[in-house]
Amino acid sequence: MSDTKVVVKTPMQLLKQDHQTVKGLFAEYAKLGDGDVEEKDRLWQQINEELTIHAEIEERLFYPAVRDVNTDEAEDLVNEAIEEHRVVKTLLEEMSGIDAGAETFAAKMKVLRENVEHHIEEEEKEMFSQSKKLSKEVLESLVIEMETMKNDLEDQDIE
Ligand SMILES: [Fe+2]
Ligand SMILES: [Fe+2]
Repeated sequence: MSDTKVVVKTPMQLLKQDHQTVKGLFAEYAKLGDGDVEEKDRLWQQINEELTIHAEIEERLFYPAVRDVNTDEAEDLVNEAIEEHRVVKTLLEEMSGIDAGAETFAAKMKVLRENVEHHIEEEEKEMFSQSKKLSKEVLESLVIEMETMKNDLEDQDIE
């Protein structure tokens, strides 16, 4: 976690920040050797938490707003993204039941990273160009709601 927090102005910036965080965690994870099981487990816990909270914010707040853009493209992109989240969540669930040192865990982590990175790219390249069509007022209140939910979910997780 970094202390130099950038002031977030739009929902897309907030989501991009999360995307960077999780990409960084995957990159750190990839550098570890087979024996670094403790460190793998620590990073895995962080990845799991980041992705779970991020998906929740998108599904409860951001995606419904993108749907409101009311174009066929926005609708299709949201539907596809929800399906991609489902795949990611299934992997997270499966991985929660496996030891971080296991071979199957390593294979699932690889697939998780590929899936998440592909999903992030689609969100940033395609979905964000739809959400930019929302009014400034809508985007401003949306980002506040999203930040509030993020803080709430992070607090719940610590308890
Ligand atoms: Fe997403
Ligand atoms: Fe995302």
